[in-house]
Amino acid sequence: MSATLRVEQGDITKMNVDAIVNAANKSLLGGGGVDGAIHRAAGPELLANCRTLGGCPTGEAKITEGFDLKARYVIHTVGPVYGGGGSGEPEALASCYRRSLEVAAGHDVTSIAFPSISTGAYGYPVEPAAHIAVTTVAEECKRFPSIREVVFVTFGPGATRVYERELAALLTGA
Ligand code: APR
Repeated sequence: MSATLRVEQGDITKMNVDAIVNAANKSLLGGGGVDGAIHRAAGPELLANCRTLGGCPTGEAKITEGFDLKARYVIHTVGPVYGGGGSGEPEALASCYRRSLEVAAGHDVTSIAFPSISTGAYGYPVEPAAHIAVTTVAEECKRFPSIREVVFVTFGPGATRVYERELAALLTGA
């Protein structure tokens, strides 16, 4: 029995799960968007911890405590900047989800929330990004029975509709 996947519209910093995933940049020193929101909610200790990590390559993932967040952990991953899709962006985006799950499974995480990685400042169109997110998570969760719940947290009605459509297509095998 693999994980339950669901979509929830809202602010990922409010999610009561074991780990939330941050759409960070390679420096891991904070930014805008969801990165900024997570750092604001977690408090200054998060940045202090991130300073010790030495950055993070695109497609990779690193874990820290959640500090003032409800979530126990933050898994920082760096999505690809979208340049048309012909420079390995799909593979790099899939790697963000895959590596985040691998890191989560190594830290007694049973519930995890993902933002829509790369679809904001990094310009990835939400439809292909959501397809990669949902299909990669569904496939990789088969390897990690300890991960019981995955939430795709969307930040607006447009993204919510796209993720719900992608999840429905996955579940019906369409
Ligand atoms: N909760 C959930 N989702 C959010 C939140 C939030 N509080 N804030 C923003 N989002 C959504 C955006 O609407 C978008 O759909 O997260 C998605 C990712 O957008 P960005 O945060 O811009 O991330 P990304 O496109 O991966 O760009 C990363 O932006 O913030 C900087 O430091 C970050 O340089 C990095 C770049």
